Amino acid sequence: MQVLEGQTLSPPPIWLMRQAGRYLPEYREVRAKAGSFLDLCYTPDHAVEVTLQPIRRFAFDAAILFSDILVIPDALKRNVRFTEGHGPEMDPIDVDGIARLDGSRLLQHLEPVLETVRRLRGALPPETTLLGFCGAPWTVATYMIAGHGTPDQAPARLFAYRHPKAFETLLMLLAELSADYLVAQIDAGADAVQIFDSWAGVLGAREFEAFAVKPMARIIRSVKQRRPNAKVIAFAKGAGYQLKDYRQKTGADAIGLDWSVPLDFAVELQKDGPVQGNLDPMRMVAGGVALEEGIDDILQHLGNGPLIFNLGHGITPQAAPENVRLLVERVRGGRA
Ligand code: CP3
Repeated sequence: MQVLEGQTLSPPPIWLMRQAGRYLPEYREVRAKAGSFLDLCYTPDHAVEVTLQPIRRFAFDAAILFSDILVIPDALKRNVRFTEGHGPEMDPIDVDGIARLDGSRLLQHLEPVLETVRRLRGALPPETTLLGFCGAPWTVATYMIAGHGTPDQAPARLFAYRHPKAFETLLMLLAELSADYLVAQIDAGADAVQIFDSWAGVLGAREFEAFAVKPMARIIRSVKQRRPNAKVIAFAKGAGYQLKDYRQKTGADAIGLDWSVPLDFAVELQKDGPVQGNLDPMRMVAGGVALEEGIDDILQHLGNGPLIFNLGHGITPQAAPENVRLLVERVRGGRA
């Protein structure tokens, strides 16, 4: 929270995107017990437990609520399912489907997630930041339109060109619901929130403005109007040079950096405020020198300004928990 307010801390605080997940045997155990992935997200006992697992093991400075960005389409009755080995799937939406979307029961549907947030704030040490989150409208829309993940989001890009009005309606509805959801998470005890625009990098310049910047700015404005002290981290993966004025245009307090962002550019971005990132998650799999040099590069470039140490994207199931331990020790100045 101090870094989000603009302070420089040495050592910097650290947490990892997807820190609760399949690389941890204790996660896989609860996951097997829970039944489906969505059951895991909607059962506070289980969701609290898996959120706390990485905090117990590694004493990260932040816990991130265990849930998924696709609970919003699930609340919109898109028949979301997570099948083993397929990634997320849902019913693909069309122009008529967009006109019929009804978000009026969003917070009732997501009540178990809000209950998880309440319990977490009580269970976590007071010095551990609790992060809430949601997906950015563009990223959530890519799954709603294709009905599944794709490498380049061609279905959503094509839909946006062919049906600009319906697409705008979808993005603006998602922005409004996301803002309500984030405010509810803050009221339930989240100290700060992160908005994931994981697919921002496939957009052309004009589309980045319209589909990534504009809805992100709208969410942040709406949250801050209602909760003026709220802190927001915006993560636009793959946005590259377009991050130059992203903080200023969206109103985000901190910006997340994927591993393709050059560190000298990251230093420029850090002059305007806190940054978070950006270790390549594959360094967590490789370990050894690859891990050490990646950590040291980030600390050398960004350690003298407001930095939240993190990966450039989520940790993968192949990462060794032992490498996470080495990472935390090295960032905190212990012997690695
Ligand atoms: O520890 C944490 O980070 C909190 C929980 C969290 C999950 N998903 C749990 C999860 C968070 C913050 C997310 C965000 C999310 N979900 C994003 C944005 C961040 C990013 O990774 O880009 C996106 C795009 C999704 C959608 C999603 N959920 C996909 C594409 C997948 C399948 C890919 C995969 O990693 O399996 C998921 C499933 C998912 N969400 C898992 C977890 C732990 C794995 C499912 C399982 O355990 O069976």
